[in-house]
Amino acid sequence: MNVLGIETSCDECAAGVVRDGVVLSSVVASQIPVHAPYQGVVPEIASRTHTEWIYGVVSGALQEAGLGPGDVEGVAVTAHPGLLGSLLVGLHFAKAFAWARDIPFIAVDHLLAHLYASRLSLPARGDGPGGETPDYPFLGLLVSGGHTVICRADDFDDVTVLGTTIDDAAGEAFDKVSKFYGFGYPGGAAIDTLARRGDPGTFRFPLPHLYKPPRAGPDHRYDVSYSGLKTAVVNQLERFRVKPSAPGMEAADIAASFQKTAVEILLRALLRAVEDTGLRTIVAGGGVAANSYLRARLAGYAAGKAGAGPRVIFPPLELCGDNGAMVAGLGERCLSRGDRSPMDTGASARVQAFKRRYP
Ligand code: KG4
Ligand code: ZN
Repeated sequence: MNVLGIETSCDECAAGVVRDGVVLSSVVASQIPVHAPYQGVVPEIASRTHTEWIYGVVSGALQEAGLGPGDVEGVAVTAHPGLLGSLLVGLHFAKAFAWARDIPFIAVDHLLAHLYASRLSLPARGDGPGGETPDYPFLGLLVSGGHTVICRADDFDDVTVLGTTIDDAAGEAFDKVSKFYGFGYPGGAAIDTLARRGDPGTFRFPLPHLYKPPRAGPDHRYDVSYSGLKTAVVNQLERFRVKPSAPGMEAADIAASFQKTAVEILLRALLRAVEDTGLRTIVAGGGVAANSYLRARLAGYAAGKAGAGPRVIFPPLELCGDNGAMVAGLGERCLSRGDRSPMDTGASARVQAFKRRYP
């Protein structure tokens, strides 16, 4: 079925159309220039901007798919988690669209949509349908600006959290370090690009030691932490300001050393989970899944172990960050088994997707 997906949980105003798991269109209008002067997303400005852009973005997605409004057979929208004001814009646009055309409507979770992105194929890129489609169960690595979750996925909507961050999200750490150093906004892509010219061995930033076998209470074996790394990197700032291009003190070296440690933190927890669970497939999702160093390290891990390593699946780069196609894809899956959301569905700032709640 032709499903329109709408995504306005943060600063991307996005819509896409999916049919039978194939992405027919994906339009992402980024508000980056709008928020750049503030070096961070301003919620009030984000929701107002979504209000102004949403009609054009949805029209663009339909046009790119070669469809008219009457061809849409279902509407999916992100209802949580995210910035409330921003979520409400997409949610109400989606409800109005579905009501006006008398077609099914479904509200989905943003993190489940990120995890679903790797199941979609982009024919425009030459991806064969289902070429790298992961089989359940698999280990999920959800890494975005707001969340960092290592989970076990038994189905598209049956996901258990194994570990999460106890402080900052992975993308948030990239963004904050970049903000302190003035590397660019948003920080993830800026650091990724800068780090390619740097030596990741210049600084040995600390890795957190979180795991102590519990006597009682929860086991934090797969949790991660980024606040210590962030502080250690920021502590170099004064030296950097005094001698910004001294040997071994170049921006690219700091970026590369930080990025290496940030990825190492993720991999330690993730690979521990691989060994403990015995799961043979890792599926990544979220904005940080676009990181070239993370992709290379995981690909290296998969290729190692004499070919006996787990399969690692990343969404195409276009579907790592927030987009409407992943929402349409997950929505199509839900709608086709008969799920419907009521018209009084609300938005929530919190994640609603997982079996185990995390802090
Ligand atoms: O999934 P996403 O688009 O939005 C949220 O759900 O938060 O993720 C955005 C995050 C930002 O923190 C951004 O800096 C980070 O993803 N990001 C990256 C890269 N591209 C985006 N982080 C590291 N390397 C990248 N190439
Ligand atoms: Zn996201």
